[in-house]
Amino acid sequence: MKCILMNKNTEVAVMDYNEVLHGFDRVYEIIDIDYAPLILKNYYEEERDELFFLNKLDEWFRGRGIPSWRDKLDLLLHRLNISAAGELLDKAFGLSLSDQYWIKPYDLDISYDEVNFFDNDFDYSEFMEASLSLNSKTIVKEEALKTPNNTTDGMLKKAWIIDDGVRYLLKGGYKNEVLQPFNEALASEISRRLGFECVPYTLDTYKDTVVSKCPCFINKDTELITAYQIRNNMKRNDNEEDYEDYVKALEEHGIVNAREKVENMFILDFIIMNEDRHLNNFGIIRDVNSLKWVDVCPIFDNGMALNIPYYDEDEMIISGNGRFFYEVKPFDEIIKVVKDIKRIDISKLDGVVEWFEELLHKYQHITNMSNTRINRICIILNKQINKLKDIIKNSQ
Ligand SMILES: Nc1ncnc2c1ncn2[C@@H]1O[C@H](COP(=O)(O)OP(=O)(O)O)[C@@H](O)[C@H]1O
Ligand SMILES: [Mg+2]
Repeated sequence: MKCILMNKNTEVAVMDYNEVLHGFDRVYEIIDIDYAPLILKNYYEEERDELFFLNKLDEWFRGRGIPSWRDKLDLLLHRLNISAAGELLDKAFGLSLSDQYWIKPYDLDISYDEVNFFDNDFDYSEFMEASLSLNSKTIVKEEALKTPNNTTDGMLKKAWIIDDGVRYLLKGGYKNEVLQPFNEALASEISRRLGFECVPYTLDTYKDTVVSKCPCFINKDTELITAYQIRNNMKRNDNEEDYEDYVKALEEHGIVNAREKVENMFILDFIIMNEDRHLNNFGIIRDVNSLKWVDVCPIFDNGMALNIPYYDEDEMIISGNGRFFYEVKPFDEIIKVVKDIKRIDISKLDGVVEWFEELLHKYQHITNMSNTRINRICIILNKQINKLKDIIKNSQ
């Protein structure tokens, strides 16, 4: 099928889409490379070869689908009545709620306004059940597959829903783990108190599971560009230089207070011991009309924190390693990149441990989290806050 890669209303390239293989097999013409996903534009500037571009375009498009490492993917595919996540990619023009790219069939007279999911409602209830329910017998109907849920990234079970006109992303826990949604809510509360720009996660329940709920931080004029895309064509040096180059790129593109905002993310990661700050879990927001880099993306995906992978009911195991660009590093090391830690008013966190403890207890009848575990989680959180207090006190 001949089609056009669109960025909202701008034509980027004309290609042939193979509906059996769910990928591209030919590029006819590149119309406006500037409006291509940043990673593709960078590849194209590196090597102006159409076959190379075709491969990268294909890789990028397949990467829009639900990843193979999604928790309980087999079950989800069964409930969606499909055999591979790639089958979903062309069901709704490849549209997403995190950017404005879509694949327009060449001969079809449709506009972005008619198809985008920011304005146009979608049927989410069946997908939500298929994705988040533990015991559902639902097999989702073909018509219900026209949703932005076809193009979500990440490991956790999740679903886009509409509530009172607002698009929200619901996320569950990984396998039988229940702590992730609570960590998201904690990250938002800490950020609110410290004045960090974080996505406002709240808690909700869906069929006896606790999920986190956050509004979409993208609108019809913006896209998320992850640090992975931004760093992709940059030279790799040592890790600290990689970080500096990243901050410099943001500053050169006019993002105000870029360094401070990136630092804030690492401060938050320190406090909650978030281990999953890989390069696709942060980035920037770009205006899709002017291509201006607008801001650092609000902090999102903070669930893998407070020692989730190491919990043991019989002993207290504390891991102290986080992610810093291409390395796994102790939080105590990562925090050193913050230039002026004294700017943090740590007293704003007074009472936050008690707040979190109460939240964990409030949902205990659903999560069945033991008192021992709640106690340990609060000890760890308290310890990190005290550690940060000391770092602030001892800094110049
Ligand atoms: N509030 C949001 N608005 C727009 N896009 C989002 C939002 N939250 C997450 N995303 C997109 O969805 C992807 C998956 O979400 P994330 O929270 O990272 O899930 P996971 O924990 O499974 O990695 C993100 O990488 C991002 O592209
Ligand atoms: Mg993620």
